Parts: sequence; C-alpha cells; structure tokens
Amino acid sequence: MWDIRRCKGKDVFLLQEMSVQTYYETFGGSSTIEDMQQYLDGAYNTRKLMDELKNPNTLFFFALWDGELAGYMKLNLPEAQSDIKDPESLEIERFYIAKRFHRRKLGSKLMSRAMEVAREQKKRYIWLGVWEHNVRAQHFYRHMGFRIFGKHPFQMGSKTETDFLMRKDLSAGTGETPDFHYGSNSNGYGL
Ligand SMILES: CC(C)(COP(=O)(O)OP(=O)(O)OC[C@H]1O[C@@H](n2cnc3c(N)ncnc32)[C@H](O)[C@@H]1OP(=O)(O)O)[C@@H](O)C(=O)NCCC(=O)NCCS
Repeated sequence: MWDIRRCKGKDVFLLQEMSVQTYYETFGGSSTIEDMQQYLDGAYNTRKLMDELKNPNTLFFFALWDGELAGYMKLNLPEAQSDIKDPESLEIERFYIAKRFHRRKLGSKLMSRAMEVAREQKKRYIWLGVWEHNVRAQHFYRHMGFRIFGKHPFQMGSKTETDFLMRKDLSAGTGETPDFHYGSNSNGYGL
C-alpha cells in the first residue's frame, strides 16, 4: 500500500540516501564520474539538505510503498525557486521514484500531492525543468498534463545541460499558451 508524507529535519539522512540513489539510477550512465560526484557533493550534502528542510519555502515529501521509502519530491514556493519565481507558481525541483518501484502509480500519487499543495497555496500553475534527454520523465509529465513552454540551462559538474521547462495549469480550460521562456537570466516571462 502506498503513502505520502512530509519530510522533517530528522529525515535528512534518509533523504540524502534516497536522493543519491535515485540520481545515480537516473543519470548514472549520462555523465563522467567526476561531474556526477561534483554535482552530488554540491546538491546533496547533509548541511545543504538540512538548510532546505528548514526553509519554509521548500517542502519535501516522501513516497512510501508498504512502509518502505520508495521516492521523494522537492517543491519550491516562489521565494525558493530555481527560476521563474512567479508568485502564482509552484516549482517541482526534484521528483524521483526508485527504479524498483516504477510503474506502480507512485509517481502519479506523488504528483497528486504536489497539485494539492499548489491548490492549498493558491497557485495557478506548477512548473518544472526536465533534462532534454530524459524521455521517460517527459512521457510521465505529459501523461500528468504538463506541456513544454521553454528551456533553461542546468549545470552538471563541468557540463552545461539543457532542461525543458514544463508546466501544468491548475484551472482547466484557460486555453492559455505562455510565452516561450529562454533561460534563467531573461526577464518578462509572460506567464
Ligand atoms: C518519471 C517517474 C517519476 C514516473 O514514476 P512512476 O511511479 O513509474 O509513474 P506511474 O506508475 O505513476 O506512471 C503514470 C503514467 O506515466 C507514464 N509513464 C511512466 N513511466 C513511463 C515510462 N517509463 N515510459 C513511458 N511512459 C511512462 C505512463 O503513461 C504511466 O501510465 P501507465 O503505467 O498506465 O502506462 C519515474 O520513472 C522516475 O522516478 N524516473 C526517474 C527519475 C526522473 O527521471 N525524475 C524526473 C526528474 S525531472
């Protein structure tokens, strides 16, 4: 049976373990060991994760399967976002289900929780960045109703990669087509 729960400060080591495991599983073959290590050391050290767990503008959730940790997501309110920072938006900065739990609808349940949070926070849409070559995740996000609206750079160790930006509007039927967004330094997002 599945469950979703909010992470607390005391979960920092569990969160670190799950973050590193799922990152390796997803991107292990896609970059050099040095670039991967540099990224993991910077993004997932316990001090940084603890600061993020304490940040009121960042929310982590665990996905569990029969009581076992199976995945997590990181949500950012505008003040903590990596880009966009529109007051009407919620960012999904990280979204991972461990490989052996794939295709059991856990990702769908976790996404439903993200939508609940967005509604509670009175946000109009959710956005995220997904690596241009991560086709599996793009399939999943499309299935969840997300559409590409731009792209931005993503630093992976010494390499600059490209993330597609995808968004899902919470109020169905707005028919809105946002302007294309070209990266973290441009202004006037048109969102
Ligand atoms: C993307 C991810 C979160 C999906 O989680 P999941 O729990 O396996 O997804 P679900 O079981 O809820 O799938 C829901 C639907 O998404 C689509 N989908 C999920 N995985 C897919 C895949 N590998 N290929 C194609 N479509 C897929 C399907 O339409 C699926 O419905 P179906 O199973 O009835 O066909 C998971 O594969 C994952 O964590 N991947 C590695 C991490 C990652 O890439 N994260 C994104 C970083 S931006």
